[in-house]
Amino acid sequence: MQFKSTLTAAVLGASVALAATNSTTSATNISTNTKIPSSCTIGSKATATAQSDLDAIAGCQTLVGNLTITGELGSAALANVEELQGSLILNNATQLDNFSADNLKKITGSLTMRDLTILTSASFGSLEQVDTIDMVTLPAISTFATNLQSANNILVSDTTLETVDGFSTLKKVNVLNINNNRFLTSFNSDLQSVSDSLDFSFNGEEAAVSFDDLIWANNITLRDVQAASFASLQSVNASLGFINNSISNLTLSQLTKVGQTFIVNSNDELNSLDCSNLTTIGGGFVVANNTQLKKIDGFKNVATVGGAIIVTGTYGELDLSKLKSVRGDGTFETTSSNFSCTPLKTLQKKGSIQGDSFVCKTGAKSSSKKVSSVTSSSSKHSKTSSDDDSSSSSSTTATDSSSSSSKSKGAAVQNFVPATSFLGAVGAVIVALL
Ligand SMILES: *[C@@H]1O[C@H](CO)[C@@H](O)[C@H](O)[C@H]1NC(C)=O
Ligand SMILES: *[C@@H]1O[C@H](CO)[C@@H](O)[C@H](O)[C@H]1NC(C)=O
Ligand SMILES: *[C@@H]1O[C@H](CO)[C@@H](O)[C@H](O)[C@H]1NC(C)=O
Ligand SMILES: *[C@@H]1O[C@H](CO)[C@@H](O)[C@H](O)[C@H]1NC(C)=O
Ligand SMILES: *[C@@H]1O[C@H](CO)[C@@H](O)[C@H](O)[C@H]1NC(C)=O
Ligand SMILES: *[C@@H]1O[C@H](CO)[C@@H](O)[C@H](O)[C@H]1NC(C)=O
Ligand SMILES: *[C@@H]1O[C@H](CO)[C@@H](O)[C@H](O)[C@H]1NC(C)=O
Ligand SMILES: *[C@@H]1O[C@H](CO)[C@@H](O)[C@H](O)[C@H]1NC(C)=O
Ligand SMILES: *[C@@H]1O[C@H](CO)[C@@H](O)[C@H](O)[C@H]1NC(C)=O
Ligand SMILES: *[C@@H]1O[C@H](CO)[C@@H](O)[C@H](O)[C@H]1NC(C)=O
Ligand SMILES: *[C@@H]1O[C@H](CO)[C@@H](O)[C@H](O)[C@H]1NC(C)=O
Ligand SMILES: *[C@@H]1O[C@H](CO)[C@@H](O)[C@H](O)[C@H]1NC(C)=O
Repeated sequence: MQFKSTLTAAVLGASVALAATNSTTSATNISTNTKIPSSCTIGSKATATAQSDLDAIAGCQTLVGNLTITGELGSAALANVEELQGSLILNNATQLDNFSADNLKKITGSLTMRDLTILTSASFGSLEQVDTIDMVTLPAISTFATNLQSANNILVSDTTLETVDGFSTLKKVNVLNINNNRFLTSFNSDLQSVSDSLDFSFNGEEAAVSFDDLIWANNITLRDVQAASFASLQSVNASLGFINNSISNLTLSQLTKVGQTFIVNSNDELNSLDCSNLTTIGGGFVVANNTQLKKIDGFKNVATVGGAIIVTGTYGELDLSKLKSVRGDGTFETTSSNFSCTPLKTLQKKGSIQGDSFVCKTGAKSSSKKVSSVTSSSSKHSKTSSDDDSSSSSSTTATDSSSSSSKSKGAAVQNFVPATSFLGAVGAVIVALL
């Protein structure tokens, strides 16, 4: 044991914590250049296919290398190891029913669990720190235990988890992508910032999410959610999208700025939408096909829109009284006959809507400018909102090797490469419309 502890100190370099627990170790100043003994260095592609392989490395407190567990194990455990300097990959172990690594506190790389068809329990009871968690196609999993304090990237896709509360205490991440987990009906998070993307899509029916501590995120996409709460959200640096949700009311009272595209599309039960502190939208602004939204009065303070503005639906009222500048086209269409285009036309005549195309159509009459570009503008618009979405998700799906991708909706995102998303596509078209 003395020996092992010394090895650990060597691996960790000047490790105060470990040295302090072992007086002999602290007396010896081990060079970080000391060759790491082979028993603790497993190489960049070590593979374990039996419990005996794992027993052989269980003596090490610290393991250096990437460990893949695959093959026909029924259950597996990695004992004693406290730190993995590398990644742990459990992949295509189709007989694996349970896995535990309960002493593991830190994984510097990824914890990947993919295509584990009967895995019901994965226990990492001590795991506090990991760079990336990647859980994809776990059709039997019911428990995933950790003690997570920090993680940079989280992907949970196509699992049977009913809760992902293991992630709820995190304060900041780069990526949080929770999709196609059909039993997941709620997610409450302490996140304060998301430096890349937050995506919660196609999970359980009637899923409710709350991100009440979230102050900013680079981009946010929610789909198939029944309730959403973002009580502290002040800014979204890139895109914000609420697509095809069954949310009845959405209040983003602290939101002042969306850096790029803001889309609220096809939320059939939405009857109240309040973004009354929002002043600036850097890209396109789309509020479309929210069939129950009769009154669009939650954007009173929006002054500038950096792209095109598209507002379609059944609304009888649209309050954009502070709007001063729209860089792109304006498209306003409502089935209501009780809507007047006059204020919008006035705005357009003043030069506030700068794009070549301006369309305002109501159930009663329509008004447009530069008729030649009108048709192309509105056809691009509807194409963007549905067709581009499906083509981008089908191309993502085509690259999936996973057997379940066919049953997962949308992009059952299989990796962290930012996909050319729906929002991206709409943004591109909106930029093209300028
Ligand atoms: C030194 O570390 C080993 C392994 O962690 C432990 O078993 C042993 O009790 C420690 N010795 C002392 C004196 O703390
Ligand atoms: C241990 O190593 C560090 C840096 O490698 C050095 O600053 C320190 O003086 C060394 N201590 C002893 C007791 O040799
Ligand atoms: C683990 O694998 C990745 C590539 O898959 C490699 O970049 C990394 O160096 C490996 N880590 C170790 C500790 O071997
Ligand atoms: C999964 O493992 C089985 C054997 O357990 C093997 O036949 C199959 O080719 C593996 N699939 C992949 C995608 O690696
Ligand atoms: C893990 O699986 C093995 C065999 O598949 C079973 O005997 C054992 O009870 C399971 N352990 C837990 C904690 O579920
Ligand atoms: C998130 O924002 C970046 C720009 O910062 C963009 O390139 C990327 O496509 C966006 N991702 C999604 C899912 O919208
Ligand atoms: C808004 O929706 C939430 C959850 O769906 C609900 O609890 C709340 O009562 C609703 N508020 C209003 C004003 O309808
Ligand atoms: C996003 O905006 C917030 C608030 O304005 C800022 O603190 C943060 O640095 C920005 N993040 C990125 C990635 O631009
Ligand atoms: C909304 O969801 C339905 C059913 O899942 C789907 O058919 C439709 O294409 C979706 N619409 C959008 C705009 O994503
Ligand atoms: C707008 O923001 C201010 C300051 O952040 C806040 O006091 C106010 O309540 C917000 N307005 C609304 C309508 O929530
Ligand atoms: C039509 O709009 C006016 C004000 O915009 C409102 O007072 C009136 O109730 C509306 N009528 C219908 C039938 O919606
Ligand atoms: C709105 O819905 C109609 C019919 O359901 C569809 O044809 C149209 O493309 C949709 N528009 C948008 C912007 O989603």
